[in-house]
Amino acid sequence: MKYKDKTVWITGASSGIGEALAREFTRQGAGVILSARNTEKLEKLANELAVISKTKPGIVELDLENNQSINNAVTHVKNNYDKVDILVNNAGISQRSLVIETPVEIDRKVFEINFFGTITLTKALLPYMIASGGGQIVVMSSVVGKFGFPLRSAYSASKHALHGFFDTLRSELSKQNIKVTIVCPGRILTNVSINAITKDGTAYGKMDEGQARGLPADVFARRLLRAIRKGRKEIATGGKEVLMVYIRRFLPWLYYIMASKVKPT
Ligand SMILES: NC(=O)c1ccc[n+]([C@@H]2O[C@H](COP(=O)([O-])OP(=O)(O)OC[C@H]3O[C@@H](n4cnc5c(N)ncnc54)[C@H](OP(=O)(O)O)[C@@H]3O)[C@@H](O)[C@H]2O)c1
Repeated sequence: MKYKDKTVWITGASSGIGEALAREFTRQGAGVILSARNTEKLEKLANELAVISKTKPGIVELDLENNQSINNAVTHVKNNYDKVDILVNNAGISQRSLVIETPVEIDRKVFEINFFGTITLTKALLPYMIASGGGQIVVMSSVVGKFGFPLRSAYSASKHALHGFFDTLRSELSKQNIKVTIVCPGRILTNVSINAITKDGTAYGKMDEGQARGLPADVFARRLLRAIRKGRKEIATGGKEVLMVYIRRFLPWLYYIMASKVKPT
């Protein structure tokens, strides 16, 4: 029961990584608050988790594209929970479209969800976290938050932006006991490519081959809980694609060659 008595608020809990994190936090003794737009899926998950937890998880509807929804969610959490020990900013949307074909409105939509929605929620909750003695903010970036990759221009940029923002937040608030863990997953087996946005705003609808071979979400969740407990500032984990993070950093010339050879399909 490594997370006993901890309250963990997880966004994007209706699917994939968020769902797996909710299961693992619950198994390890935490009380979880589940957020996403699809409350039917959250309700189903909450009922499942209620069997292993002494309290049924809370459900808080959240649309990161809508400021009112974010404010309502934070108000609800403040009014119903004594504290939030860990906020997991996991919700996000990927992209499958070429730069040259993608209208800027689509780029803005990706940023609205992945970056502005995430920071709006965090800023609204921060004063409450600080007042209750501090807490930990987990931010779901990606390996492509460390390098660019074909078909994911705005997605990659939005994840890069999270690093700048949350590294700064960490440096400003560490004395107030706010910890930040930025997570760079490689390929994790979820519906992320199916749900990815395309140039016309519709969902991509296909499971990428690489995605299908990704790390199971429950394995990833266990790794991540260990990293969160250790207070890691940044973690990159997944399969061998994670090597690209180090190639980009230490052998940039090789990264440029490799990235230019990726077939953008
Ligand atoms: N899977 C991977 O290989 C991988 C790799 C690197 C990073 N990531 C990151 O991991 C996070 C989770 O992705 P996943 O793989 O679990 O994908 P997923 O299965 O598509 O889950 C995405 C989650 O985000 C929520 N979401 C999407 N738009 C939202 C919005 N406007 N407001 C609130 N919630 C929203 C979805 O819930 P609703 O639709 O119900 O709102 C869903 O719960 C994302 O940030 C993604 O970028 C994933």
